[in-house]
Amino acid sequence: MVLHGPNLNMLGTREPEVYGHKNLQQINKEIKEKAEELNIAVDIFQSNLEGELINFIQDGIDKYQGIIINPAGLTHYSIALRDALVAVKLPVIEVHLSNIYKREDFRHKSVVAPIAIGQISGLGYEGYMFAIAKMKMIIKKESF
Ligand code: DQA
Repeated sequence: MVLHGPNLNMLGTREPEVYGHKNLQQINKEIKEKAEELNIAVDIFQSNLEGELINFIQDGIDKYQGIIINPAGLTHYSIALRDALVAVKLPVIEVHLSNIYKREDFRHKSVVAPIAIGQISGLGYEGYMFAIAKMKMIIKKESF
């Protein structure tokens, strides 16, 4: 599964100098194309609501083999989201469009990073493509 957190539905118009000019529909199209090219199935979900993201993660326990998530603002404080990710015991890759370490201090901390396999931050929308390629390797046990 690929999850997008709060406000990512506003990509394209939301601070394009920070997050890029592509909107979420365009990014999702590229994610689906990449998944097709790699021959893996992907479902994509965006919500502005923490609980909806948590429900999607919980409901996915027997359905998915890995989670790629941009938790957006929830990255920095949502223990509940982190707990859900831990609970389903699926490999997690965290993605951020911007480099969170180059920005305000409050963005430097991720409560998700310590339970993720790894984090991609600052590589724009292409971060999702790298994450998918890596997730395939993890699922196929070609990599950790
Ligand atoms: C973000 C970075 C977060 O700090 C911010 O709250 C977002 C987007 C990113 O993709 O760069 O909404 O996750």
